[in-house]
Amino acid sequence: MPMSPDRVIITSGTSEGIELALTTLAESGDEVLVPTPTYPLYTAVLAKIGAQAVFYRTDVTRGWQPDIDHIRSLVSPRTRALVVIDPNNPTGATYPLDTRRALLDIADTNNIPLLADEVYADLAFDGPVAALAAQNADAPVITFSSLSKAYLAPGWRSGWMAVGRTARLDDVLAGIKKLADGRLCSTGPMEYAIVAALTGDRSHQATFRAALGERALLTHKRLNAIDGISSVMPSAAFYAMPKVALPHGVTDADYVLGLLRATGVLCVYGSGFGTDPADGFFRVVFLASPTELSTIYDLIADFTQDFLAGPRR
Ligand SMILES: Cc1ncc(COP(=O)(O)O)c(C=O)c1O
Repeated sequence: MPMSPDRVIITSGTSEGIELALTTLAESGDEVLVPTPTYPLYTAVLAKIGAQAVFYRTDVTRGWQPDIDHIRSLVSPRTRALVVIDPNNPTGATYPLDTRRALLDIADTNNIPLLADEVYADLAFDGPVAALAAQNADAPVITFSSLSKAYLAPGWRSGWMAVGRTARLDDVLAGIKKLADGRLCSTGPMEYAIVAALTGDRSHQATFRAALGERALLTHKRLNAIDGISSVMPSAAFYAMPKVALPHGVTDADYVLGLLRATGVLCVYGSGFGTDPADGFFRVVFLASPTELSTIYDLIADFTQDFLAGPRR
């Protein structure tokens, strides 16, 4: 997408970019539209600022797609940004073209900066997802990504943000730059790694995507074969967000901590991402080898059978 270098800022991972943008855009009492389930960094930064995360639904019955009407209904005079995570953590969903257009339209017509968290864009199983801003370069979009996921270098803390070309974002860009100046400079040597990564050979990504796709399918089949568990097929990244049908009064944390104690397998309970504890969602990371995953899903199957049968709780 067209982007002038003076609108790109090198950051310490996507995380720093998100913090710089939210701190520039929102202050105490302001609202930011955030998906649920959500990536908890957003709620943590908003809590620090004193701004309010206003959650919009992504719908498990429609493959974790965002509920566009719900988003529209939540826009208020205090809305300062719309956060879109596509491909998504924790659900592994990617959004179709019409949904992406609708999200851009909400940002454009309401003049709300859209924060496009695209850190998993190169890890969609069917091939890279285009930057959202490429669909409408004049919409108020700030794009974030890094070397952490598709270049397998999370510890290098090398990321970037690109502020869309619209003049509507000029003040925001100035604010972000002022905050970025406060850290004196980015991680200098790692900037060279970004150039090499983005302009060099990316063939490892095709191999990585294929490996992830295979693990996603294994995860989907094995989890759905367990009585009491249902899971949506992910289309990107290395996450699935299955649901276990919990008995009344039992929480997702009871299930996940019980699984950890009984088997040593650690998942994250859905309520850590903002879902209702009674709904029984938990997030699985399927980066382990297929053989290890197979053993893990055996353990989850045995544990779930016992757990849902009763007394172990
Ligand atoms: C959706 C999402 N955004 C941002 C990040 C942070 O990535 P980075 O290492 O680039 O700061 C993560 C890491 O898990 C993530 O899942």
